[in-house]
Amino acid sequence: MVKVIAVAQQKGGAGKTMLAAQLGVAFAAGRRVALLDIDPQASLSAWGRLRAANPKAQPGVTIESVSGWRLAVSLDALRRDYDIVVIDTPPVLDSDARRAIRGADLVLVPLNPTPPDLWAAEGTLKLAAEERRAVALVFNRAPAASKLRRRLETEIAARRLLLLAESLGNRAGFANAFADGLGVAETGPASVAGVEIMALAERIVTLLG
Ligand SMILES: Nc1ncnc2c1ncn2[C@@H]1O[C@H](COP(=O)(O)OP(=O)(O)O)[C@@H](O)[C@H]1O
Ligand SMILES: [Mg+2]
Repeated sequence: MVKVIAVAQQKGGAGKTMLAAQLGVAFAAGRRVALLDIDPQASLSAWGRLRAANPKAQPGVTIESVSGWRLAVSLDALRRDYDIVVIDTPPVLDSDARRAIRGADLVLVPLNPTPPDLWAAEGTLKLAAEERRAVALVFNRAPAASKLRRRLETEIAARRLLLLAESLGNRAGFANAFADGLGVAETGPASVAGVEIMALAERIVTLLG
C-alpha cells in the first residue's frame, strides 16, 4: 500500500525541499517513488528538471508539480503505481498545507536545532494535531552535539513529540547533489551525507510500517 509523507514546516529554509529530494532518491532503491511539489516556488520541480537532463540520475523517482487544491485527486491517481509519495509543501500555513497534511500518513518536520525553528514549527504541529496525523521531527543542518541541540532534544521530549535520532548535518554533499538534480544516495552513498540520508530513509520506512 502506498505511504504518503508530507514534508512540512512553516519556516522557509528549514530544508523541506532538500529533504524531499534526498529522501526521494534514497527511497528509490527498491521502491517506486513519486515526489509531489505543491510549493508555488517550485524548487523541487526545478530539481526535477535538472534530474531529467542528468544521465547520472537513477530511474525510479517521478516528480510532479501539483496545485494544492488538486492534491487529493493526484494522490488517488498515484496510489496504484507508487510505494511512497513525498509531498514538498510551501512555507506557509494555508489550505494547501492542510490538504498535504490531511493526505499524509506521516508529517515530517525538518528543523534546525535552535529555538526559533521549533517556534516556527508550532503552526505545522498544531495543524498535524488537528488532522490527527503522525508527526516526526528531524534535525537538519545539525551539529552532531551542541548545548542548543541537547536543549531542544529535552524540550521536544518533554512535549512527547517524536524526534528522530537520525539527523542530517550541514553538508556540502547535500547541496552539491541537489544542484545537479541528484541525491547523495546516488552521488555518494558511502559519504557521511549518504550514510545519514540512508539511515533516515530506513528509519522512516520502519515508522511507516
Ligand atoms: N543538510 C543540509 N546541508 C547543506 N545545505 C542544506 C541542507 N539542508 C538544506 N540546505 C540548503 O539550505 C537551503 C534551504 O533549504 P530548502 O530545502 O530549500 O528549505 P525549504 O524548502 O524548507 O525552504 C538550500 O539552499 C539548501 O540547499
Ligand atoms: Mg522548499
